[in-house]
Amino acid sequence: MNHNELCQYDKQHIWHPYTSLLNPSPVFVVASAQGVTLTLETGEQLIDGMSSWWTCIHGYNHPVLNQAVTDQLQKMSHVMFGGLTHRPAVKLAKKLIDLTADNLQHVFFADSGSVAVEVSIKMALQYWVAQGKPEKHKLLTVRNGYHGDTFGAMSVCDPVNGMHEMFTHRLAENIFVEAPNCKPEEDWKAEMIASFEQALIENKQQIAAVILEPIVQNAGGMRIYCAEYLRQVSQLCKQHNILLILDEIATGFGRTGSFFAYQQADIEPDILVLGKTLTGGYMTLAATLASTQVAKGISADKQGVLMHGPTFMANPLACSVANASIDLLLQSNWQQKIASIEQQLKTELAPCADLNMVKDVRCKGAIGIVELHHPVDIFWMQPRFVELGVWIRPFNKLVYLMPPYIISKQELHKLTQAVYQVVKEFSDNIA
Ligand SMILES: Cc1ncc(COP(=O)(O)O)c(C=O)c1O
Repeated sequence: MNHNELCQYDKQHIWHPYTSLLNPSPVFVVASAQGVTLTLETGEQLIDGMSSWWTCIHGYNHPVLNQAVTDQLQKMSHVMFGGLTHRPAVKLAKKLIDLTADNLQHVFFADSGSVAVEVSIKMALQYWVAQGKPEKHKLLTVRNGYHGDTFGAMSVCDPVNGMHEMFTHRLAENIFVEAPNCKPEEDWKAEMIASFEQALIENKQQIAAVILEPIVQNAGGMRIYCAEYLRQVSQLCKQHNILLILDEIATGFGRTGSFFAYQQADIEPDILVLGKTLTGGYMTLAATLASTQVAKGISADKQGVLMHGPTFMANPLACSVANASIDLLLQSNWQQKIASIEQQLKTELAPCADLNMVKDVRCKGAIGIVELHHPVDIFWMQPRFVELGVWIRPFNKLVYLMPPYIISKQELHKLTQAVYQVVKEFSDNIA
């Protein structure tokens, strides 16, 4: 197939995420990727502002990560996890247990973020069944959340912004309260947690767990909230004997400035979900960690079995590259790097606030967000970013950057300037 035939075949036969086969938005053929640069088959080089959906923190084609995969490949690429185990999985479990809160001592390896969220929900539901309280089967969550595309995960996504509105009547009914409404720089007021507290108290007999993305809500609206909200949530959960599930799939491994976002609130979740960056963006792997209370609690049932077991659970290649990626991150000066990315994002995205189409500009760690008053036209905006030599994938009303941590100041500058220019053109066109 030549380039045009390949594009044509793709267009006619392949679904891309959240796209129509009848009216597909443009796609670009990537030939290779190195550092923070994607090279298209047509020769253009694009600075990556997305880290391939927030995963590829060390950049592409990293020699250390390549070596980890190559070494493991010589030994075995995959073995089943039923009845067998292997060093890469045990090593990774130990690393995750050592890095996370003291109470989290048990790990389930899943094959994607959504599945790891399903597992976290199963853990919570099974826990209460085993405690003789099957009536505690609902989840309490906040609006504007996003936890994945499978049915359990969809049931806790924002019913409108969470991309799954059309399934509303096919999903388990959970309890939603307004999204956290406390900006990090605002003084804390008790009323900021009032609606959450009220819903929790009114429904506590039915609630198995609270599930939230800590500090930054991602695909459901890219909203940043204060650590005190999270602290209050944790306290209320403890007070009313409700499990707390934190979904750190997007925020984990440094993205918000601390190794895990929940550490900013100095709390311990009962269940923690990790994914995306876990393998440095090399392979699909996720993990659900549980406290000993939850793990033993599940086992108090007559069966005692956690009812999940995917075929590619704890894939050795993925576990090996995850081990190498975590080591690489820990050996780097990631705190300084994220702080400097945050500072640059704040300074260089600030002028966007003066554009008439812009509703808000906000940054946290290595995340910079420009929220518009209207949804973007992806058919125009995406090729325009490519013309400017950057890879930025806006959605809905949000144009945002989540670059690899290894990005240089000049490369980040190119991204922020492209955001300003394209949002300005969008503003001028609409005006
Ligand atoms: C917070 C959060 N949870 C869960 C998911 C789903 O993960 P995956 O796409 O790997 O299934 C995502 C994906 O964007 C996410 O941001």
